[in-house]
Amino acid sequence: MKNIISIRDFSGEQIFEEIVPGCLEQVEYVRSVTGNKRKQDIAYDPLVKVTHLFLEKSTRTMSSYVEANDLLGWRRFIVPDKDLTAMGKGESIANTIRMHAIFNTDILVMRSKIEGAQRFVAEILEQEGYEISVQNAGDGTNQHPTQTFLDLLTILMKLGRLDNFKIGFFGDLKYGRTIHSLLCALAHRKNISVVLVSTPETALPAQYKKLFSNITEGDSLELLSDCHVVYGGRVQEERFEDQFELKRAMGKLKLTLAILNSYRKGVLVMHPMPYTFEITPEIRLDKRVILDNQVWCGIPSRIFCLREGYKNKNEKECKNIKAKCKFTTAENKSLDEYFKERSSRKAQKYFKPIRSGTVIDHIARGFAIKIRGFLNSTGNLSSGVKHLIEDVPSKTSEYKDVLVLENIFLEKDICSVIASISPDVTFNVIRDGVFQKIRATTSNLISGIGKCPNPNCITRNDPEAKAKFHRSPTGDELSCHYCEKEFKREEII
Ligand code: NCD
Repeated sequence: MKNIISIRDFSGEQIFEEIVPGCLEQVEYVRSVTGNKRKQDIAYDPLVKVTHLFLEKSTRTMSSYVEANDLLGWRRFIVPDKDLTAMGKGESIANTIRMHAIFNTDILVMRSKIEGAQRFVAEILEQEGYEISVQNAGDGTNQHPTQTFLDLLTILMKLGRLDNFKIGFFGDLKYGRTIHSLLCALAHRKNISVVLVSTPETALPAQYKKLFSNITEGDSLELLSDCHVVYGGRVQEERFEDQFELKRAMGKLKLTLAILNSYRKGVLVMHPMPYTFEITPEIRLDKRVILDNQVWCGIPSRIFCLREGYKNKNEKECKNIKAKCKFTTAENKSLDEYFKERSSRKAQKYFKPIRSGTVIDHIARGFAIKIRGFLNSTGNLSSGVKHLIEDVPSKTSEYKDVLVLENIFLEKDICSVIASISPDVTFNVIRDGVFQKIRATTSNLISGIGKCPNPNCITRNDPEAKAKFHRSPTGDELSCHYCEKEFKREEII
């Protein structure tokens, strides 16, 4: 493990058989080195340097990372408030990171409000030959993977197991990144039942809900009465654009002593903190409310993260970040032969054949117009007759669109983008008396097809970050490679 960017990057085996046991091992280490009993450890290497770049507010994550850093005896640089750095003068994230790389950073711990910034940063550092571990200390509403490691360590130490339990989440499930990450990890476990308690304004996004088959949902804290673990989340005021929506979301879900007393005996109440109203002062020091244990678990967990990151910092992890398209020739015949076949076909003919140019066939219904727009914008529709034919009955899918481009031949890069827009297309290329039918197979990572609709995505906030998407198995949804949000194809293209 070199980078820690998203829980989604790890398999269940890695999380539960390597990372959590690794964090647990550090518990003894932390106990032995704190309280004036500091011991030199094998990892001690004073030249190691960690840069802590917190572009969003933080108490626990930053302090525990710094404490972990100090207990390892490593050098550190804590970047001051971003307005006191050149970022306050408009310097980009990419250029800021390059500077810390030049100043000998081995590990970059980074928090940002921009989603996907850490993945972008890890990619450019690797491409430019730096050997640096990038650790995501929270990116906007997306992920907070190291919080998940400490949450799992807390549950393991207090409950004694990481499967067969019922966990209830309450509060802001829409924007609470610690909840998103924890759910992604728990989705790998057996027999985890999940209860979600929120207001409609703060409900969990569908992309996390679909990770579980066993979910109960509602808006009352009573629903949590038989949970082994109850996990609260602050209403993320800073992320609400709509003040009305925010006001409605505020203040509804408060865990009081009376409610807590109605819960399962031995329930464990967790919260990543800070909390505002959702944990009432009367229960703050109740022994069922294990917030302080949870916070402490941040130290061993982050020692593990720093050590692992340093040990593996020269690995290459950001492979396969280039969208690829493969072209295969499915038919190759003389034009006369093609015309003969075509005239004997019973199928209705929707366009007059051309003797030179490209026919883009099997375009998903409704997408020909988008492809034409793309070709226009890239200067590929200069000469010749162009026909756009929509809603043609098709053998393979019910209806298709077709684009006929006389005397126009397209470069491979352009064809890859078209194949990304509509994966089933074929290119019929008619040139010098020869007809070729070419099929394009795109990888699951696609680029060049449009912008990420999320305004907080790094691709909308750093001029060097280009949008890329992963296709869902059905192909209907695309998830952003950086901010990890899922969208319908039409929202992007
Ligand atoms: C949280 C965070 O920053 O996501 N806190 C933390 O890291 N322990 C929760 C929050 O801000 O509400």
